Amino acid sequence: DWNMPDYIAEAVEKIRQQVGTDEVILGLSGGVDSSVAAALIHRAIGDQLTCVFVDHGLLRLDEGKMVMDMFADNLGVNVIRIDAVDQFMGHLAGVSDPEAKRKIIGREFVEVFQVEAGKRKNAKWLAQGTIYPDVIESAGKGKKGHTIKSHHNVGGLPETLNLKLLEPLRELFKDEVRKLGVALGLPHDMVYRHPFPGPGLGVRILGEVKKEFADLLRRADAIFIEELRKTPFVLAPGASEATDNGIPHRNWYDATSQAFAVFLPVKSVGVMGDGRTYEYVVALRAVQTQDFMTAHWAHLPHELLGNVSNRIINEVRGINRVVYDISGKPPATIEWE
Ligand code: XMP
Repeated sequence: DWNMPDYIAEAVEKIRQQVGTDEVILGLSGGVDSSVAAALIHRAIGDQLTCVFVDHGLLRLDEGKMVMDMFADNLGVNVIRIDAVDQFMGHLAGVSDPEAKRKIIGREFVEVFQVEAGKRKNAKWLAQGTIYPDVIESAGKGKKGHTIKSHHNVGGLPETLNLKLLEPLRELFKDEVRKLGVALGLPHDMVYRHPFPGPGLGVRILGEVKKEFADLLRRADAIFIEELRKTPFVLAPGASEATDNGIPHRNWYDATSQAFAVFLPVKSVGVMGDGRTYEYVVALRAVQTQDFMTAHWAHLPHELLGNVSNRIINEVRGINRVVYDISGKPPATIEWE
């Protein structure tokens, strides 16, 4: 039994006692956990908190703008936005192995963050949106050879920067973090967003990452998500109400656990008007899962898939074919890399 106003009051008091008059820095990713941590810590200590938001060029469409609008403009949080697109793209050039890409993205992220943090001489604390499942998980390793959240929770930084760790969500489960986020004034759609991997679009562009590919993928992905959000979820006759911890599914975005587009760097032939096209392919992936360890491909309505395909091909010049991924996990994984 969880009384939200009491919980917030206690958490705020605890943060104030912990940090006193010190400054705190936090790496904002746009994800749920770091966002809720930022909102909570800001509630507690206001301007003593500075957030660093790194744009590595592998974010979703308008993500940077969204984060700045919400935190800097609406909530009045100090946010430093770092444009590190060229730095990341430079280091990723010529690299096509998925694990090598992950390592580079993680390393550069730490690098950029470290430079920014190093400028803030009064910062004594590094805040992170670590939640209870991360605490458990970090004991074991993910299938890809490193802990799932190793990139988000900028590992190694506290030691090199000599910062103390502030992790106010450490005891909370995901659904509690979401409720807390809503209570702190974050928008429902933000707090109930699908998970997004730390390496971002870097693992959704197969093989070598190029800015041109990221730009195409961002637009295709945004169309897919927009259509999922605007297509009502209708229960099959006789099916019992599907919910996410009591929140009913309003649309197909709610009814899927994770959905995204994947960029395939192969060209196929198409026709447009009376001309022949020779352009790239995008795959759509949508899954339903409880724990992300196993997953089913989502049985999206054909009409929804058709609309998404038409829109991507018509609106995103450079893509002339869209396919739907019907592989379960296992044996496939949710991400393609
Ligand atoms: P897979 O592809 O292994 O994904 O079925 C399971 C879940 O983990 C996410 N994922 C990652 N998250 N860094 C992250 O922060 C990563 O390198 C990474 N790889 C996969 C994936 O999005 C899915 O939710």
